[in-house]
Amino acid sequence: MTSISEDFVKNLLEHMEDWFSDDEQFQLARLEKRFYPYTHLFSPVQVNRLRMKNRIVMGPMVNINMAEEYGRPNDKMIQYFSERARGGVGLITSGLVPIGQAADPTLTEKEGQTNFPLITGSRTVFSGWRDLAESIHSYGAHFFIQLSPGMGRVGDPESLLNKHKLPVSASWNPNFYIPAIPCRPLTDGECRRIIKQAGQASANAKAMTIDGVYLHGHEGYLLEQMTNPAFNRRVLSHFSNWQTFGLETVREIRERVGPDYPVMYRIDLSLALNATYGERMATIGSLRKFRHERQVAETLEYMANLVKEGVDLFDVDLGCYENWWLPHPPNSLPSGVFLPVSRLVKKFFAENKILSNAGLPVPVVAVGKLGYPDLAEKALRDEMCDMIMLARPLLADPQWANKAYAGRVDEICPCIGDQEACLNELVEGGHVKCSVDPRTGLEDVIPRELVRVETPRKIGVVGAGPGGILAAITASQRGHRVTLYEAHERLGGWLVAGSVPKTKYEVGNYLTYLKGQVDRCSKEHGLTIKLNTTVTPESLKNEKFDALVLCSGAKPVRPEVEGAEPPHVVQAVNLFLHPEWVKDARDVVVVGGGTVGCEVAHWLTAEYGKQVSVLEMLPHFMKGVCTANRGHLIHDLERRGAKLFNCTRVTSIHTGGVTVARNISSTVPDPYITWAPLLPENIPNPLAKPIREEIVEETLKADLVVLAVGLQADHSLFEACQLQNVAGDIIAIGDNFHIGRVFEAVEAGFNVGNSL
Ligand SMILES: Cc1cc2nc3c(=O)[nH]c(=O)nc-3n(C[C@H](O)[C@H](O)[C@H](O)COP(=O)(O)O)c2cc1C
Repeated sequence: MTSISEDFVKNLLEHMEDWFSDDEQFQLARLEKRFYPYTHLFSPVQVNRLRMKNRIVMGPMVNINMAEEYGRPNDKMIQYFSERARGGVGLITSGLVPIGQAADPTLTEKEGQTNFPLITGSRTVFSGWRDLAESIHSYGAHFFIQLSPGMGRVGDPESLLNKHKLPVSASWNPNFYIPAIPCRPLTDGECRRIIKQAGQASANAKAMTIDGVYLHGHEGYLLEQMTNPAFNRRVLSHFSNWQTFGLETVREIRERVGPDYPVMYRIDLSLALNATYGERMATIGSLRKFRHERQVAETLEYMANLVKEGVDLFDVDLGCYENWWLPHPPNSLPSGVFLPVSRLVKKFFAENKILSNAGLPVPVVAVGKLGYPDLAEKALRDEMCDMIMLARPLLADPQWANKAYAGRVDEICPCIGDQEACLNELVEGGHVKCSVDPRTGLEDVIPRELVRVETPRKIGVVGAGPGGILAAITASQRGHRVTLYEAHERLGGWLVAGSVPKTKYEVGNYLTYLKGQVDRCSKEHGLTIKLNTTVTPESLKNEKFDALVLCSGAKPVRPEVEGAEPPHVVQAVNLFLHPEWVKDARDVVVVGGGTVGCEVAHWLTAEYGKQVSVLEMLPHFMKGVCTANRGHLIHDLERRGAKLFNCTRVTSIHTGGVTVARNISSTVPDPYITWAPLLPENIPNPLAKPIREEIVEETLKADLVVLAVGLQADHSLFEACQLQNVAGDIIAIGDNFHIGRVFEAVEAGFNVGNSL
């Protein structure tokens, strides 16, 4: 076997931190078509007995709350996948489907109900899978089910709190959410039962006309806990060799499904914990146990052994829960983030002449921010991988493949990587949705085609942020006569400021897409755009609109603090639009540690090399933000030397500095923790320690103070219009109603435009 240096992972992570100073990196991360026609992307590929029509694979995204409470896939799940099959994808994979619920208490709730789809246990769940597979097939796509032995230590800690059962793992390991909760090792008997369940689940899948099974062996879930020495430190067990559980699982599956049935395996080349946390691996209690993670060369050897047992196809990434921004790369990471990883594996398979048991080359699927057809095509042409997996890009645009094939690349709606409506929505208790596609996850209730109106109405939309644009284009596509007003010279609202940092290139791409949609709508549906136009209730009344949609946004909050006045005190949103104000500053203090505060701080350190301190009154920075996005931003702020002060209140701002009241008690949480998440507020943590107060006054040097303490909804236009009866229907959405994210604005804009 080739010897592969562990520096590979370290170097790759280092590149990920500085990628945005490399302009070439941006060239392919645009919705352009320099490499059209996409002959490689749309060429067939053979996997065991199956011939896929193209090289595009829909990545697994867990289908929580898309099944009945006993596990049968419901109409929501069927419509959601059918839409992506109809969109031209060659291979669809389900999200993780657990099989080990007898052993892993985190997979079911107190009453035995589950929010996962299931394929084990009883025939009552089968018909949903048949309907799903048959529907996907009718569009010429194949379908694999992702089987997961369970969550183990990354499962919901409520199992202990509600069921009084310890969660499980391969060895004694801390629970990820509440590290003080220990996870007990599975017994050998339980492991053997899970292996049998994997075989039975695969046989069930085959009988349900599902085309292949896909093992969920990455990101530190239970299968990886058993197959990575970081987590599996068993002694005197049949499974103390960390390869045994995985190899025996594949063997059992092969025995049950026969030689022809495709088996896919998802693996991380490395957990990349040592490369992420360096010396902290020895000092942080909940990381220390995981120091001896599987090495790259060991992963490759394990993969070769898996092929011998019957694996036909792999996809490969990096990372686990403790560095969640790797398996779930947020907007701050580069496009094509794991292409070097798939290239390394592909090269290893070629050099070692590794063939599947069917005598075929073992294709390597690349994953991670590949939603740009040029980038995907070039990756295939350059032999960096054999297939392209798209997860979030297919939430953002289910028609991605059809549009790429037809060369309608500028019509692809891009993923913005905020992960608020997909990953975070799951954490908060919902199902997968999408910030930029309001129909995603609601295909069962929102018809595919907009309904044309019989009696067009005259509609005014005020404010051209994402909510206003969605309302205007949806209503005009339905046949209404729509005028969209914008006070500024540009479309986009806050997206304009939000796309200034280089790391927010995806928001920039989305803005370009929205502008394209507006242009198209004005040409094809008569949408009228009035830029640089400030409306009043009187001017709107004169227009005699039948309906008015108000989404003119919100105002930044100015804290009531002595000295919070220009010129050296500026709002973050204004600073993004006036980078020339940054030039002379050396020491910057950002007031407010929410997303905007942390993003402006990152931009100032990464692109301008400033010394930045960020002040937050609450115990945690970016509370409520997706753990992956939050984790990466904090990690990189720390790496760049930004200082984060939590439990810190500004008392006054003056020339040259900011005076604060800071809680310096040892009970204040370490603001740089990224290896443990913040729990959603409705999950009680009885082990949480209370924070005591020990307040001191301090002064921080600052020649520029940036305010990022939030936005305030502006209800004045709505209330004046309502009072003066300006139109028959008046609806306030987006930040005019409630301060929200792109997700809420887009959903509201679409819903209103679709209902007028
Ligand atoms: C909402 C959501 C749910 C996910 N669920 C799973 C899952 O069930 N199994 C899995 O292996 N990966 C899961 N992933 C990871 C994705 O399959 C994929 O690896 C990741 O999103 C990076 O690919 P992308 O940039 O194409 O989105 C999930 C990702 C998202 C956004």
